[in-house]
Amino acid sequence: MAQDLIIAVDGPTASGKGTIARALAAHYGLPHLDTGLLYRAVGRQCALAGGNPDDPADALAACDFTDDRLGDPELRAEATGGLASRVSIHPAVRTALYERQRAFATQPGGAVLDGRDIASVIAPEAQAKLFVTASVEARAQRRFLEMHEQGRDIALAEIAADLAARDERDRNRKDAPLVVAEGALVIDTSDLRREEAIAAAIAAVDALAAA
Ligand code: DC
Repeated sequence: MAQDLIIAVDGPTASGKGTIARALAAHYGLPHLDTGLLYRAVGRQCALAGGNPDDPADALAACDFTDDRLGDPELRAEATGGLASRVSIHPAVRTALYERQRAFATQPGGAVLDGRDIASVIAPEAQAKLFVTASVEARAQRRFLEMHEQGRDIALAEIAADLAARDERDRNRKDAPLVVAEGALVIDTSDLRREEAIAAAIAAVDALAAA
C-alpha cells in the first residue's frame, strides 16, 4: 500500500458513507474526519446565536465555533442536518472550513475524509475516491431506524421529504456541489448489508490505490 493514502468518500446524506469511511479508517489504520460534522456545527451555532442560516454573514459568523461544539449530541439531529445544508451553500463558509479539512487530508500517512466535495475540492489528489449512494427510500428507512435508536421521534415521510430537499440543495448549489468526481468509483448501498458495503469499499480502495 502506498504511503500517504488519502481516501475520499463522498455521497448524499444517509447513503452509508460515514459507516464506510469509519470502517476504511479502521482497516487501513488511518485517521478519519466526518466533514459534515463541521457544517453541522456551523448550522447549530448559527441557530443558537439567533442567526439566519440563509444569510451569508450570519452563517460566516458561526464558523468560529469551538471544538467542544463538535461533541454536541444535537449535531446528529435531522434538523441540524437541514441547517448544515443551508449554511453550506455560502462560499465564505466553505472557504472558512477549507484549511482545517485540507490540513487533515494532507497529514503525514494519509487520512479518510467523508463529505460532499472531498474528491472534487478538498483532496483532488486522493488515491482512492469513492462515491457512496443509495435510493431515497433506502436512505430514509436507515435514517428512520437510526433516529428511533437515538430516541428521536420523527415520521418516515418527514425524513424522506427532508432528504429529498437536502439532496436538491446539495446537488444544485453553485459552489462545490455534490458530484461524482472524475475517477471516483460509485458504490450503491441500496441493496447491500453493512458488511457487504464495507467489503465492496475495501476492494475498491485496494484496486484504486494499486492502480
Ligand atoms: O453528511 P452530513 O449529512 O452530516 O452533512 C450535512 C450537510 O453539510 C450536507 O447536507 C451538506 C453539508 N456538507 C457539505 O456541504 N460539504 C461537506 N463536505 C460535508 C457536508
